Amino acid sequence: MSDPQDSPAPIRVWDLPTRLVHWLLFVLVTFSLVTGLLGDPSLIENHMLVGQITLVLVVFRIVWGLVGSPRSRFADFVPAPGRVIAYLKTGRAATPGHNPLGAFSVLGLLVLLLAQTVTGLFANDDIFNEGPLAGSVDKGVSDWMTGIHELSGNLLIALIALHVLVVVVHRLKGDNLILAMITGRKPRQDAAWEDRPYASSLLAAVLLAASGVLVWLLVTL
Ligand code: HEM
Ligand code: HEM
Repeated sequence: MSDPQDSPAPIRVWDLPTRLVHWLLFVLVTFSLVTGLLGDPSLIENHMLVGQITLVLVVFRIVWGLVGSPRSRFADFVPAPGRVIAYLKTGRAATPGHNPLGAFSVLGLLVLLLAQTVTGLFANDDIFNEGPLAGSVDKGVSDWMTGIHELSGNLLIALIALHVLVVVVHRLKGDNLILAMITGRKPRQDAAWEDRPYASSLLAAVLLAASGVLVWLLVTL
C-alpha cells in the first residue's frame, strides 16, 4: 500500500487575485482581438471600453508583481542567467511559480498588453472612432500609434498562440499548469520548494481600485 507521505500536500502558488486577473485577461483580450479584427464600427465603443479595463488589470498585475504574494512577484520568477542555464540542463525549476522560460513569455505578454492598451488610447480608425487620448496628439502621432496598435495586436496573437501551445505540451507531459491556474496549487515536485503564504486579498482589492483610478485619471486628462 502506498504511504500518504509519498504524495506530499500540494503547495500554494497562485493567489486568488493572480488567478482572477489571468482568466479575466483571457476573456477580455479575446474579446478585444475579435472586435478589433472584425473592424465593425458598431463594436468599437465596446472594444475601447474592454481595452481600458484590460489596461487596469495589466497595471494591477505589474504592481502585484512588486508587492503581491511571494510567487506572483517578478523577483520570484524572473530568472538570473544562471537559473535559466540550470533549468535548461536539468529541467528542474528553482521555484514552483513560472519556470525560467515561462517567465520570459509572461513578461512578453505583459509588455505587449501594456503596449497594446496604451497605443489604443491614441489610435484612430480614420472614420469617426478614436481612442480617448487621440485628440491630445497630432494626427501623425495618432496614426503612428494606430500602426503600433495593429503590429502589437499581431505579435500578441502569435505570443498567445505560443503560450497556449506550451501550456498544452506541459499538460501532455503530465504537468497540469492549467489546473494550478484554477486551484492555485501545485503538487510539490521538489523538496526544496517552499509553501509561501498568500498576500492579503484586501490589499489586492485596494491596489486594483487604485489602478482603476489611475487609468481613469489618465484617460480623462
Ligand atoms: C488571451 C489569452 C491569454 C492571455 C493574454 C494570457 C496571459 C497570461 C499571463 C499574463 C500569464 C502570467 C500569469 C501571472 O503571473 O499573472 C499567464 C499564465 C498562464 N496562462 Fe495564460 N493567457 C491567455 C490564455 C490562456 C489559456 C487559453 C490558457 C489555458 C489553456 C492559459 C493558461 C495559462 C497557465 C497555465 C499559466 C501559468 C503558466 C505557468 O505556470 O508558468 N492561458 N497567461
Ligand atoms: C488588449 C487590448 C486590445 C487589443 C487586443 C486590441 C486589438 C485591436 C486590433 C487587433 C485592432 C485591429 C487592427 C487592424 O486594423 O489590423 C484594433 C483596432 C483598434 N483599437 Fe484596439 N485593442 C486593444 C485595446 C484598445 C484600447 C484600450 C483602445 C482605446 C481605448 C483601442 C482602440 C482601437 C481603435 C480606435 C482601433 C481602430 C484602428 C484601426 O482602424 O486600425 N484598442 N485593436
